[in-house]
Amino acid sequence: MVSPSLVSPSLVSPSLNSRPAQVQLYDLHPPLDDFRAEVLQGLRQPQKMIPPKFLYDKRGAALFDLICTLEEYYLTRTEMGILQTHAAEMANLIGDSVLMEFGSGSSQKIRILLDALSANPLASDPVYVGIDISKQHLLEACDRLTQDYPGLTAIALCADYTQPLELSAIEGMGDRHKVAFFPGSSIGNLEPAEAVQFLQQVAAALQPEGALLIGVDLKKSKTILEPAYDDALGLSAAFALNVLTRMNRELGTNFVVQNFGYEAIYNPMGRIEMYLISLQDQTVHFGEEEIAFTPGERIRTEYSYKYDVEEFWAIAASAGFQTKQVWTDPNQLFSLHYLHL
Ligand SMILES: C[S@@+](CC[C@H](N)C(=O)[O-])C[C@H]1O[C@@H](n2cnc3c(N)ncnc32)[C@H](O)[C@@H]1O
Repeated sequence: MVSPSLVSPSLVSPSLNSRPAQVQLYDLHPPLDDFRAEVLQGLRQPQKMIPPKFLYDKRGAALFDLICTLEEYYLTRTEMGILQTHAAEMANLIGDSVLMEFGSGSSQKIRILLDALSANPLASDPVYVGIDISKQHLLEACDRLTQDYPGLTAIALCADYTQPLELSAIEGMGDRHKVAFFPGSSIGNLEPAEAVQFLQQVAAALQPEGALLIGVDLKKSKTILEPAYDDALGLSAAFALNVLTRMNRELGTNFVVQNFGYEAIYNPMGRIEMYLISLQDQTVHFGEEEIAFTPGERIRTEYSYKYDVEEFWAIAASAGFQTKQVWTDPNQLFSLHYLHL
């Protein structure tokens, strides 16, 4: 288990140093060696894969934000619609808690909850912990939050949330009840057994009596699902291919990005599968190693599991959570679940 240590707020990125730093950074960013080792291990498998957490360098995070604005990508606007419709009810459930967002990205959705929480004049000033692997993006998002919500204490925890986190070293969380927020259906990027394990880790972080508000994409027609992950503008493809550019820059590989394509297909077992596809016979140098690709060979970059409400309840229950409330949109595209221990 890794314990976060505080990096002085004055070490917050240069662009943020021009004004008084508001954000406390706890930096547990995985070292470059982990990136190298995990990617190499994935590329040595018979079904080559790259873990999706590596898709979010600065450009990847910016591309993801653009994807969220696309017509085909119904997930973001639908989840935000549910949050807006039920924000007051959610704020009542959350009460006077520390909000911890896993995979916080641009921290847009939390604003809906912060606005609803601020409607209670008796509530204490909110404390927000953003947890994300993309450090610069995380810092900038937390910094913008502190500008827009003057009473807010924002803590940026740069870490891989699939690893167990010991949060007791984080200053400022006090004894307050904790509520985790995990939007975006990022739970779907994990295999069901990994999702249970992840939720067990979240439960451990929330002890003794916290809660989890989690966004889960629902099963639906592949005519809606596939374009959401392979849009007409090609942003989803650019987002996935960007990991090759990142590896060339940070790991010294020599992928020729134009020699790879992209596809997203719905597997009726209940998941979207995203792949980079080798367009020709080619060999890529990875340190001492050579990785060979045949024409049409695929590298898996992401799964995105879709769950019916009851299927997700079973996963949550296996991790020790009970359902307090579930909200969906009128078209039954997306669900938000409030779970407690
Ligand atoms: C799909 S985006 C979702 C962003 C935002 N929560 C939303 O709902 O729009 C996933 C976010 O989780 C972060 N992320 C992905 N895998 C992660 C991991 N293993 N540990 C920490 N952050 C991760 C990415 O950097 C990215 O910001």
